Amino acid sequence: MNLLVIGKGGREHALVWKLKQSRRVENVFCAPGNAGTGVDGINVPIDYTVNDFDRLIHFAKKEEIYLTIVGPEDPLAAGIVDAFQKAGLRVFGPSKAAARIEGSKVFAKNLMRNADVPTAEFKIFDHPDPAKYWVESREYPVVVKADGLAAGKAVIVCKNNEDARKAVERIMIRDEFGQKAGRQIVIEKRLDGEELSVLALVSGRAILPLPPTQDHKAVFDGDQGPNTGGMGAYCPAPKGTPELMAKIEEEVFVPVVHAMKRGRFPFKGLLYGGIMLTSQGPRVLEFNARFGDPETQPLLMRLKSDLLDLLDAVVDEKLSEIGESAVVWDPRPSVCVVICSGGYPGKYDVGKVIMGLDEAAKVPDVKVFHAGTKLEGGRVVTDGGRVLGVTALGDTLAAAKKSAYEAVSKIKFPGMHFRTDIGDRALKPSI
Ligand code: AMP
Ligand code: GLY
Repeated sequence: MNLLVIGKGGREHALVWKLKQSRRVENVFCAPGNAGTGVDGINVPIDYTVNDFDRLIHFAKKEEIYLTIVGPEDPLAAGIVDAFQKAGLRVFGPSKAAARIEGSKVFAKNLMRNADVPTAEFKIFDHPDPAKYWVESREYPVVVKADGLAAGKAVIVCKNNEDARKAVERIMIRDEFGQKAGRQIVIEKRLDGEELSVLALVSGRAILPLPPTQDHKAVFDGDQGPNTGGMGAYCPAPKGTPELMAKIEEEVFVPVVHAMKRGRFPFKGLLYGGIMLTSQGPRVLEFNARFGDPETQPLLMRLKSDLLDLLDAVVDEKLSEIGESAVVWDPRPSVCVVICSGGYPGKYDVGKVIMGLDEAAKVPDVKVFHAGTKLEGGRVVTDGGRVLGVTALGDTLAAAKKSAYEAVSKIKFPGMHFRTDIGDRALKPSI
């Protein structure tokens, strides 16, 4: 059968690569894809960002696509799943109503409050003046967030009242993150601790947690510099002990998923909890309504079971029939190092020729997932901020890290940047 993956990042390349291994699958198409998905699958030049889903639907019908898998958050928030379903097509991902758990921070915070899910204390504002007045009497630091999607950028940590006033103005008055995204804001306490990414397949009330992963958000070593989409990840994260994972399932996933079902917007897809491990216990920072990027890369590198079987179970509401122990994982840990364009997450150049991909691929137990890349005149060139996700398995986390960096050392393009400390938090627990 034929599948269609929507998106063009490292996450989508990992999905295409893994789904292509399914014994039931013939072709995996990717719209629009990147240079890597064009090798492991077949790229389709249809842009999902314009929210014109008709062309994708037309393609899915023409190619008799058995299942479409939606990678990024924007089309989910815009209702791509509802549009596909209306057209009679099978699709993996939450409905527009359920995707609000990521698309609207106000929605997510209210849902957590109602379901009694541990999260940072917060207040919601729909006008700048009361927000500016309220921040005068706060204990700092606080975090000011725009309600809507802004690629993780509209989350501003404020050390004092002056910072907080400026953040409110940037989001609500100057509309720096878009008019719609900044119509409402959430102001919450800043939480301290390590972040854990907990991804689970969810279908109605059924929850199947996947092994814990840890991302590295800041652009420079030692968690310095601005936040990015993620500079690297590893799996499993030792911080996510079986006890902690059970607690997170019970205190976070179960109440949220039940509340969504009761509210008549049941979640079907991949639910991602960004969890801060505070001294008072786990607290939810955010939910994502999709696979994480880069987390999906080290995660799928370890998955031995057929991913299509799992996605089918979600779509067909048969997830409760699959026990956690029925999903087989490679016992070896994995590490993913993201190579990005110089300047990212700010301005960066594109079109740089990438050298050494073949040499990197020769390193045993390594897969180089592509993100912002494209083919130009037979050569692979950079085409985005995050360019590659070099992912390795190893007998130990240290061995996986060593292989990943060995492969990274083979790759060259002008201005490239990567962190040198991916995995160190688990390897050197004093960090
Ligand atoms: P969000 O878009 O809400 O997921 O936030 C993106 C990132 O900002 C999170 O992954 C954290 O690294 C950081 N962040 C968000 N909220 C808080 C908070 N209350 N305290 C500390 N860090 C936060
Ligand atoms: N790595 C963070 C995210 O996928 O949102």
